[in-house]
Amino acid sequence: MPKVTIDGQSIEVPDGTTILQAARMIGGENVPPAMCYHSKLKTSGGYCRTCIVKVSKGSDKDPRPMPKLVPSCRTTVMDGMEVQNNTSPEVLEARRGVVEFLLINHPLDCPVCDQAGECHLQDLGYENGAANTRYDFKRRKFKQIDIGPYIKLHMTRCIMCFRCVKVADQITDNRVHGMLNRGDASEISTYIENVISNDFSGNVIDVCPVGALTDRTFRFKSRVWFTKPMDAHRNCTKCSGKVTLWEKGEEVLRVTTRKDKWGESEEWICNECRFEKKHINDWVVEGPRHIDPHSVISLNHYENVAAKLKLDIAKQQKQLASKK
Ligand code: SF4
Ligand code: FES
Repeated sequence: MPKVTIDGQSIEVPDGTTILQAARMIGGENVPPAMCYHSKLKTSGGYCRTCIVKVSKGSDKDPRPMPKLVPSCRTTVMDGMEVQNNTSPEVLEARRGVVEFLLINHPLDCPVCDQAGECHLQDLGYENGAANTRYDFKRRKFKQIDIGPYIKLHMTRCIMCFRCVKVADQITDNRVHGMLNRGDASEISTYIENVISNDFSGNVIDVCPVGALTDRTFRFKSRVWFTKPMDAHRNCTKCSGKVTLWEKGEEVLRVTTRKDKWGESEEWICNECRFEKKHINDWVVEGPRHIDPHSVISLNHYENVAAKLKLDIAKQQKQLASKK
């Protein structure tokens, strides 16, 4: 098993593991961000360049460093490889450049965007973005398109990550949309309108890292951080039926896949579960969904409040015990 060292932490991984996957196995602060790679989608990654890292030692056999920064989602680990992510000023500088490019055409409409609060670009911009833009030229703008009754395409927000194309390719049985044109003329084809006939097309919403593909049944209903995510399931003949319900009071505002700690869908769900089962009685509720504490969605959530209360009570009990 090849051994790789990332920012000073070593791990042995199975053959064929990429640097990004190895970093995720180590976990913690040094995992490179990823906008286009998705662990459940084959051949994803290699488009956005946010996951770039420096390979300061190629391997034990050939210790020469790699001449350029490499995308960690597409670079396989070699035995003895040494990688720098957060410890390399060169990587951090290059990542700031990538974010600047991604934001050139992306509108700063977070206050009205449904993806705000769970947008990977928002987090990335916050962590690596510049306060001002240096771009003076005209930006790309597109009209919003309704893709059937359930999905809205807002191309102006798209960052060309190809995840939705991979979903249509690999999860639905007939792909009818894709990327048209090249360079700054690229766009997701409007043939995407046809994909709605497929039972699993709604998954494009969950994989879109920005607000380019949003759920029309949820648009403008609530900010995500005001909703309550609950794990739930139902007997479904088309998919696993395992979902996250986003509730406000007794109302189910939206249904999504369950996302792992990298924000990637654990299992795909069908359109019936996602769009047509919006009543709490349609579901067996399992309990609160764990949300990463760094996410704005977790703010003021009962899970955190309960944990804090528990901590406070334990503290008070300790103080009382020491006074006795
Ligand atoms: S619409 Fe979303 S998922 Fe599709 S390429 Fe654009 S950013 Fe990626
Ligand atoms: S996540 Fe690696 S290039 Fe996009």
